Amino acid sequence: MANKNWATNEISSQEGKTIIITGATSGIGLEAAKILSQKGGKLILPVRNLEKGNNAVQSIKQGLPNADIEVMLMDISDLDSVRQFAEKVKMKYNHLDLLLNNAGIMWTPQRNLSKQGHELQFATNHLGHFLLTGLLLPLLKTTPNSRVVTQSSVLHKKTQGQDFEPSIQLDDLSFSQNFDTKKAYAQSKLANLLFTYELDRRLKAANINTIATAAHPGYTATNLQKDAGFIMKIMNVILAQKVDMGVLPILRAATAPNLKGGEFFGPTKMNELKGYPELVPSSDTSYDQNLAQKLWAVSENLVAYKYDL
Ligand SMILES: NC(=O)c1ccc[n+]([C@@H]2O[C@H](COP(=O)([O-])OP(=O)(O)OC[C@H]3O[C@@H](n4cnc5c(N)ncnc54)[C@H](OP(=O)(O)O)[C@@H]3O)[C@@H](O)[C@H]2O)c1
Repeated sequence: MANKNWATNEISSQEGKTIIITGATSGIGLEAAKILSQKGGKLILPVRNLEKGNNAVQSIKQGLPNADIEVMLMDISDLDSVRQFAEKVKMKYNHLDLLLNNAGIMWTPQRNLSKQGHELQFATNHLGHFLLTGLLLPLLKTTPNSRVVTQSSVLHKKTQGQDFEPSIQLDDLSFSQNFDTKKAYAQSKLANLLFTYELDRRLKAANINTIATAAHPGYTATNLQKDAGFIMKIMNVILAQKVDMGVLPILRAATAPNLKGGEFFGPTKMNELKGYPELVPSSDTSYDQNLAQKLWAVSENLVAYKYDL
């Protein structure tokens, strides 16, 4: 049974660990970087904007001058950029303990496309991380007790604020017809979970001791809501939790000992919007193995990379 009030004091030393965190220039990723750095981890932060990346490093080093952090360029929505980043990492490092797939965008005001022509929320939140994980798998596989942790959302399922059942539109993943930005975001966050559970099953079937877990941060005030309108700005002040709480589920999924793989952590207060992280169930659709296999196959096709599993 999960502990109550799990907090960062539960995190053991991360010394000797190499940790990649996507989306660490702001919000939850930056907070996770600060804490894992304080715990002694060596961080690699792939960012799409080097100035923002360097600012993030500066803000971490303010409290921790000896923090070991390397910033590298990567736009997670651009598959070429993901390939270049992964190549550089593999040339320089021979192990990888933790990969935190955290970067994300939400509710773009219009239908934007990635460099390779995929709907931008799907490309950023799912496809880029799918490729990144696959390319870094050789390092993860050879690192004992390594983990891949992917950030999903409570919006991967039908919630009070979401009056549709999120699905994977296998026949039109990029919403070329009837674009609905909330459905596209929900699809990408459902894809994060289908990917995590399928990855974990495939790792186990291949007898690899890397595990895959997932998390969601409830409702946390960050830059994510910048396109979500005026009401959301007010809600951010009165309802959302602060980033020091929102970071806890992904940190628990990343560091809690004795996880088997396939765990999903999120807050449990106020319909999972707030509170300390515990194991939470995800939607029935997220556990659909047939759908997960189809998404896996189509993702391998779209990113032109076949997993070595
Ligand atoms: N906050 C919430 O309530 C909430 C709820 C559910 C799920 N989530 C999830 O939590 C994760 C973190 O979000 P957040 O709330 O911390 O938001 P945030 O403050 O906006 O941070 C998002 C991070 O992702 C990065 N990013 C976005 N697109 C990128 C790209 N193409 N290439 C590289 N980096 C990119 C951003 O970099 P830039 O600085 O360059 O933009 C930023 O570092 C996301 O996956 C989000 O879906 C958040």
